[in-house]
Amino acid sequence: MGIADRPAGGHRKATDPGANRRRRPRGNLRLGDGRGRPPVLACKAMSNERDSDLRRLAWLVESGADEAIEERPQNRLRPPKPAADPPHETTRPETTRPAGFAERQPAPSDISGTGSPGGQPALWQSEESAMTSSDAAVASARHLAAEAQSIEDLRAALLAFDGCALKATATNLCLFDGNPEAKVMIIGEAPGAEEDRQGRPFVGAAGQLLDRMLAPIGLDRQSVYITNLLFWRPPGNRNPTAAEVAACLPFLQRQVELVDPSHLLLLGASSVRTLLARQEGILKLRGRWAHYQQAGLSRPLPAMPTLHPAYLLRQPAQKRLAWRDFLAFALAFRAGEDPLTSS
Ligand code: URA
Repeated sequence: MGIADRPAGGHRKATDPGANRRRRPRGNLRLGDGRGRPPVLACKAMSNERDSDLRRLAWLVESGADEAIEERPQNRLRPPKPAADPPHETTRPETTRPAGFAERQPAPSDISGTGSPGGQPALWQSEESAMTSSDAAVASARHLAAEAQSIEDLRAALLAFDGCALKATATNLCLFDGNPEAKVMIIGEAPGAEEDRQGRPFVGAAGQLLDRMLAPIGLDRQSVYITNLLFWRPPGNRNPTAAEVAACLPFLQRQVELVDPSHLLLLGASSVRTLLARQEGILKLRGRWAHYQQAGLSRPLPAMPTLHPAYLLRQPAQKRLAWRDFLAFALAFRAGEDPLTSS
């Protein structure tokens, strides 16, 4: 029932079921929806509209737009009004913009990133400026990460870090799950929707599959440390950009130093390619031990690349490949061996 259909003084007693049909509405009291539809059809139409609104809302939330940031919606696709005084934009001092946020705030008119409303590329949107800004973000990340003496220091550093634009769209920082004393470190790609909600990696469907794969090799969240390449969810679970990976990498590297694991398990192409500096596809790289090297580590760490559990959820037939990798990983880990150096 719509607001206009409701009697002002509460519900009328239903003594005469035909009364509604016979009486003519007075004043603001109208039957139907004011568009000529009788009440039953109007209710049905409204309920359909509400269902489709709810479906749209669910789609937005699923895509990562789960927070209202302004009072009113804005049509960002509408052509821009001509800027009153465009030249001022180009003189905006670089220091007024937080490091790492160059790409985050395109002008409403400039969703394609091709230039400012006045036709000139705005200084803060130019490629050169974006690069300077992401260089600054990486430098700041390195500095903050190097100062952290514990995982909790790293968490505080990430909470203070503004060099990764994903922070602005994520709900929670998602740093790690498991045990910082563990000798097995698992590195995935990026938090998904459930991880973003809970602020812990691998707690959604992929995480549950991961737990089911770890259990048969005698591992669980008490015996592993789990983290990701990125610490905030990319909107709509899109692939990470190079700038996002670069800004988060120093924090990941510092985690490796602080946790000091004996073996790494790398899940999925992004994590494998980034950490092992390889370009091949994951189906080629998986199952082959490789050394993970990093300045600041006393030795290279044996790393097993394998398929991501989210991929396995979509391609269950590939689980047998991942299972082989998990078994090989468990054998080396249990023996305390580096399979690349032991004879
Ligand atoms: N996929 C990942 O790579 N990481 C998570 O934390 C969840 C899903």
